[in-house]
Amino acid sequence: MTDSLKNLKLIEKAAFQDDLIEWFAKEQRILPWRKDQDPYKVWVSEIMLQQTRVDTVIPYFNRFIEQFPTLEDLADADEEKVLKAWEGLGYYSRVRNLQSAVKEVREKYGGTVPNTKDEISTLKGVGPYTAGAILSIAYGIPEPAVDGNVMRVISRILSIWDDIAKPSTRKIFEKAIEELISHDNPSYFNQALMELGALICTPTTPSCLLCPVRDHCHAFHEGVEKELPIKTKAKKQRLIRLAAVVIKDSDGNTVIHKRPSSGLLANMWEFPNVEISLPFLREKSHIQGLLLEQLGIEVKLGKNVGQIEHVFSHLKWDIQVFEGELLTPIREADDLKYATLESIDAYPFPVSHQKIIKQYYKYS
Ligand code: ADE
Repeated sequence: MTDSLKNLKLIEKAAFQDDLIEWFAKEQRILPWRKDQDPYKVWVSEIMLQQTRVDTVIPYFNRFIEQFPTLEDLADADEEKVLKAWEGLGYYSRVRNLQSAVKEVREKYGGTVPNTKDEISTLKGVGPYTAGAILSIAYGIPEPAVDGNVMRVISRILSIWDDIAKPSTRKIFEKAIEELISHDNPSYFNQALMELGALICTPTTPSCLLCPVRDHCHAFHEGVEKELPIKTKAKKQRLIRLAAVVIKDSDGNTVIHKRPSSGLLANMWEFPNVEISLPFLREKSHIQGLLLEQLGIEVKLGKNVGQIEHVFSHLKWDIQVFEGELLTPIREADDLKYATLESIDAYPFPVSHQKIIKQYYKYS
């Protein structure tokens, strides 16, 4: 730890803060979550921005806030509507945790987002990054908010060679920022680091000539800015082969299934599907057997109409899509329903199954 931060004491702290904050005041992008400091909106934006790019988030954020303008609106909302509003953003546990957490804020804190590190960190889905972001941006409290972008920027400024893919490394960066953060304007300081990471100090070709803190940057002076940060590669995703069936009668009725309430894509809807091992990839009788056994759907499989691939952080789906004819009416339940060409749009589907809707269910 001490050796990683050997350059920390060499930084001219006040000048670094001033250069960074002055640049942010002039150059910051106009973004919808920067219109006010409402802790609820800051919270929503920071959760959306985890693992998702700013350009993608903007329309989702605007629609989400239009639909759930206050913390109470989100606390009271139907989970299915909340998942629908998040549809396409991925990592759906983020929004399920967010809704649990706002319910807790309403019950335990009278609807006011807590403004201490200890209290805010107990909320579901609020890790050290989100806690620091809300505390600094909404409440002006000098707490670090260290995500991957901030680690990239600071690894260059201080020439830190620890592996940022290792969870334990974040603490080194938190310590650096605790030391460097402006106590006059922690909000701008943290946001400026994020903005610098997005606009100037980018992963492969940083624009050092435009950088407001180049004079403070050890990696630039050492000529190693492109070698930092050190980030070991993530493991390859595990492949899962699935067979999904699109049932469609002459009126367009289909059958959809709701995933379990925990695990991957919890409570999202999908076309009935089963995991298959390679030898049975296209063996219809085998797949029919699994659909009956696992989901209680008696179906006659038709043509193999296509294939969908979807990559998650840790696994990869290869979905063979089949047409199918329902042999026995289903017993409708909370997790098994008929949908129609019109009603299907009300259900939240993961991206891979949205593609099935578009390409194999609503295609004509
Ligand atoms: N990335 C994470 N948080 C952000 C924010 N508040 N503004 C822009 N990009 C971000």
